[in-house]
Amino acid sequence: MKAVAVQAFGSPEGLAVIDLPTPSPTDGQVLITTEAIGVGGVDAVIRSGALAAYGFKDGHILGGEIAGTVAAVGDGVDTSWLGQRVWAFTGVGGGYAEQAIAPATTLLHLPATMSAAEAVTLGSSGAVAHFGLRHAHFVPGETVLVRGAAGGIGIMAVQLAARGGASAVAVTTSSPERGDRLRKLGATHVLDRAGEGGEDDPAGFDVIIDIVAGADLPSFFAKLNPNGRMVAVGAVAGDPPTDFAMEMFAAFQKSMSFATFSANTVPAADRQVVTAELFAAASRGELATVVHEVLPLEQAVLAHRKMDAGEVFGRIVLMPSGS
Ligand SMILES: NC(=O)c1ccc[n+]([C@@H]2O[C@H](COP(=O)([O-])OP(=O)(O)OC[C@H]3O[C@@H](n4cnc5c(N)ncnc54)[C@H](OP(=O)(O)O)[C@@H]3O)[C@@H](O)[C@H]2O)c1
Repeated sequence: MKAVAVQAFGSPEGLAVIDLPTPSPTDGQVLITTEAIGVGGVDAVIRSGALAAYGFKDGHILGGEIAGTVAAVGDGVDTSWLGQRVWAFTGVGGGYAEQAIAPATTLLHLPATMSAAEAVTLGSSGAVAHFGLRHAHFVPGETVLVRGAAGGIGIMAVQLAARGGASAVAVTTSSPERGDRLRKLGATHVLDRAGEGGEDDPAGFDVIIDIVAGADLPSFFAKLNPNGRMVAVGAVAGDPPTDFAMEMFAAFQKSMSFATFSANTVPAADRQVVTAELFAAASRGELATVVHEVLPLEQAVLAHRKMDAGEVFGRIVLMPSGS
């Protein structure tokens, strides 16, 4: 089978299409013939080499989110999954392939009205946005800022905050055109990447969902209301400065909170319940899935060039040629 491996960490050109034997599922696993593979922001971060400390090795197959048909099951897995169209989460890799292994505990049936491309755009991002807002103790009536809203997680956070009764949903993004698209998804205020916007913007926010981090993160503490909560769910601009908490201490009397959030800390069963609910909501037309572009699996290099160039609004989806 064809797969895309990281032959050299760094630029997209380090990705290569290789031939591998079809893997066999072991206890608790399934083999999925992939129809759609999500290209997540985290894939670009792993490929860049920024997460070398986590032990990624040359030859790593990227991709955590896939949809397709169950082709084989390992010991202990209900054989009724065979032949079912499913969404699955492989973990930190293995997804950029014509066939991929996933734990059976992550499987969800694809709703009849949902395409495989839509499923891999919504699945993981939706859960991160949902639980990120919950981690921030968001309640209806509060003001929310989504920093880095134009990617998969941000687009879901905007929609879920709006659906959840936020009194205002502001976003940071890099262009007015992207801002207009985000307004159609529920944003009420559009700020630039530095957090500057119009005169009618809320003076402060109760919740900031931050997908960006990086050098500018501390400047956003000033945008939190008293008792405001900032939750970092991503770091597409890299780590914040080591002294980033000093900005919070400078405003000690505002009783602000900062937290990181990783979906890894959510029990798998809870993630499954929420992802199934989000799939159902999307099937009813209550949530939009934004597929930026569908590319053949063999063009993973192009997909990553587009990611690095900041061209992507929503999610790029890879499809093996046979799909
Ligand atoms: N918490 C979890 O459990 C979890 C799970 C999966 C992934 N992640 C993390 O989430 C992140 C990926 O999320 P994603 O796929 O939604 O993001 P993404 O699409 O890679 O990026 C989101 C947006 O951030 C903006 N941006 C990019 N670089 C920026 C910079 N240097 N400064 C300011 N804004 C910038 C861009 O929008 P504009 O050009 O419009 O500004 C971009 O569309 C990764 O850090 C990944 O590790 C977390």
